[in-house]
Amino acid sequence: MEVLKQRILEEGVVVSDQVLKLDALLNHQVDPQLTMEMGREFAGRFADCGITRIVTVESSGIAVAFATAYVMNVPLVFARRKKTLLADPDALCERVPSFTKGIVTDIMLSRQFISSDDKILFIDDIIANGDAARGLIKIIQRSGAELVGLGVVVEKSFQAGARTIREQGIRLESLVRIMSLSDGKIVFDD
Ligand code: G4P
Ligand code: NA
Ligand code: NA
Repeated sequence: MEVLKQRILEEGVVVSDQVLKLDALLNHQVDPQLTMEMGREFAGRFADCGITRIVTVESSGIAVAFATAYVMNVPLVFARRKKTLLADPDALCERVPSFTKGIVTDIMLSRQFISSDDKILFIDDIIANGDAARGLIKIIQRSGAELVGLGVVVEKSFQAGARTIREQGIRLESLVRIMSLSDGKIVFDD
C-alpha cells in the first residue's frame, strides 16, 4: 500500500534496530481517512471468503479492525486484556508473553461473541514476534470457528511472527513489510 509507505516514512520514528514508533498513525493518533483506506484494502483482499466476523486484540488494532468490519458489513469483536481473570466459564483465555513489554498478559474472548459457524478475519496493527497473535489464533481455533486469515498493517519481516504464522498454513496479508530498521532507516521489503 503505497500511500501507507509514504506516511510511515514521513511520520514513523525509528527508535532502535527493532522498534518503529508509529504513534502518529496507529498507536496514539488515528487518521480516519487513511484507516478507512486500510479497511478497504483488507476487505478487498479477503472479499469472497465469506467472512462473518472481524476479530482483533485491544487496543491499537481496534481502529483498523473497525474500518475493515465497516466495509465488509460484519461485526467486530476485540479480545480483552486482563491482568487478573475472574473465573468465567464463558470465556476463552490465553496467556501471552510480551517481549517488548517484559510482562505476561491474559487475553480473553467471550464465547458469546464467536461461534463454530463463524469465518473469522483477524486484523492487527503490527506483527513483531507474534506472541499476542498466536494467543488469539489459539482462542479462535478453540472456539471451533474457521480462521480464514490474518490482515496486519505493518509486518516487521526481520522478526519471526509473520513467518511462523504462515508456516502454520495460515494466510497472512500485510499492507507493508519492513525488512530493516538498521542505521535509523526504514527499509521496505518491495
Ligand atoms: P507481537 O505483537 O508480534 O506479539 O510482538 P511483541 O510481543 O514483541 O509486541 C508487543 C507489543 O508491542 C504489541 O502491541 C506490538 O504491536 C507492539 N510492537 C512490537 N513491535 C513494535 C514496533 O516496532 N513499533 C510499535 N509501535 N509497536 C510495536 P500490543 O501489546 O498489542 O499493544 P497495543 O498497541 O495493542 O496496545
Ligand atoms: Na500494538
Ligand atoms: Na495490536
